[in-house]
Amino acid sequence: MTIARLYLSNDTSSKAAGADRLAKLLEEPTDVQLVRTSSRGAFYLEPMIERDAPSGRVAWTNITEADLEHVLAGQGGVSIDSIPYLTRQTRVTFANFGITEPLALDEYQSRGGFKGLEAALAMAPEAIIQELKVSRLRGRGGAAFPVWSKWEAARQTDADQKYVVVNADEGDAGTYCDRMVMEGDPFRLIEGILICAHAIGAAKGYIYCRQEYPAAARVMRAAIQKADEAELLELDGRTFSIEVVLGAGSYVCGEETALLESLEGRRGIVRAKPPYPAVSGLYQRPTIVSNVLTFATLPSVLARGGAWYASLGTEGSRGTIALQIGGRVKQPGLVEVPFGMTLRQVLEEFGGGMAEGAKCKAVQVGGPLGSLFPESKLDIPICYDAFANAGAILGHGGIVVYDDSTDMVDLARHFMAFTSDESCGKCTPCRIGSVRSRELLELIQRGGAQASDLALLADLGDTMKATSLCALGGRAPYPVMTAMEHFAKEFSSKLMRQS
Ligand SMILES: Cc1cc2nc3c(=O)[nH]c(=O)nc-3n(C[C@H](O)[C@H](O)[C@H](O)COP(=O)(O)O)c2cc1C
Ligand code: SF4
Repeated sequence: MTIARLYLSNDTSSKAAGADRLAKLLEEPTDVQLVRTSSRGAFYLEPMIERDAPSGRVAWTNITEADLEHVLAGQGGVSIDSIPYLTRQTRVTFANFGITEPLALDEYQSRGGFKGLEAALAMAPEAIIQELKVSRLRGRGGAAFPVWSKWEAARQTDADQKYVVVNADEGDAGTYCDRMVMEGDPFRLIEGILICAHAIGAAKGYIYCRQEYPAAARVMRAAIQKADEAELLELDGRTFSIEVVLGAGSYVCGEETALLESLEGRRGIVRAKPPYPAVSGLYQRPTIVSNVLTFATLPSVLARGGAWYASLGTEGSRGTIALQIGGRVKQPGLVEVPFGMTLRQVLEEFGGGMAEGAKCKAVQVGGPLGSLFPESKLDIPICYDAFANAGAILGHGGIVVYDDSTDMVDLARHFMAFTSDESCGKCTPCRIGSVRSRELLELIQRGGAQASDLALLADLGDTMKATSLCALGGRAPYPVMTAMEHFAKEFSSKLMRQS
């Protein structure tokens, strides 16, 4: 009997698209071996089943129960290499996605896994930091700080204990790439953590994982156990310990110092900086807090060299960026591309343009603190400098597209209400400013505001930007102020008519 090896994603988004239902149906045929892989991130094609063919993998997309007989008979399907959404990407951090089984350590190793750690272990810590300097890798958590610089500070600070903390709190609306890494390629994250630990001299690591990600936490714990059993956690003469801790369920706990407070068992309140965590972080010890993607990129940088990584992208933004396209587009999903494509190109080439019958009104990049771009401003290159010059942020690479049915005043109100709910309350501009801004937006929405209220809202926004302690309060005015700038008529049309 010939056994057909079929591949079906086990990712949470794929399950939401119906992957588990298909898996159940495939339990019965005895001539089928089903492998639950990570997802390729082309969520608009899911559920998708793949099968080995002499020329590579063949995929059946958007399949229903009725299509299974064709899959089992090997009829139809399209070559994975003929899907432009997948072939046009440059996959570095997401190279294994859709291909490997997340917890199959041998598969990870057979695709070059742990080669980056091997290279790092053969180098002096200072040489690793130098390699990162050459790579010009910047943190992927939002602030885009050069990775080598934090590591050098942690390395050079004397302490009885140092820590590595993975920020896996992923709170931005429209982002899910950290979850995908944890669910889909957990050994890559572990490898990145170990490289960092060796470079700074840490003996303990934590993964602060968003509480709403139970599958990610489960896969990570299982992968840590497997890595331990395979003695891969033996580092610099001791066993490196990695603990997965569930987050407290608050957006601000993604801010690195609030995260450390939470990890120490207290309420997630932002700490004043300096001192920076790299010098005095968890339990006042040098701590590298970095995003999941930052750690997950390290194995490739170390295995292939900093110069190779720096050859991708643009002058100030080297390497690749994981973009998560969502909202009113035809083809939502994750793409990894070198920095430099324009927002419009990404939305057209990967997003497939607007959903049937929808017209683009605005695009928000970077989560609830990100600026809103009107359709006319989409020719901006996706890189840190261009976004900073436009008063925008790339944040965690989430792109949400709004259509022309969107009420921009209500959208602005929604984001400010989010900040007022999530503010940690430590500083006045954010604690009070976000509530007053929300109230003003509610007043405008009710038709009870005057032109002077718009001026007051803008003034309040400027104060929050200039004086908030962290980026929650400091960035919260941006979606509101960009909505006011680009959709001014919508705001003025809601003002109270003067008699
Ligand atoms: C309100 C707020 C929420 C944040 N949430 C996250 C998050 O969910 N994940 C993340 O990696 N960084 C988040 N950050 C950024 C972190 O403070 C920090 O810059 C980041 O973890 C550093 O990692 P990197 O060096 O890899 O960029 C947030 C910042 C703020 C102000
Ligand atoms: S800006 Fe907001 S979230 Fe940040 S420290 Fe101040 S009150 Fe807390």
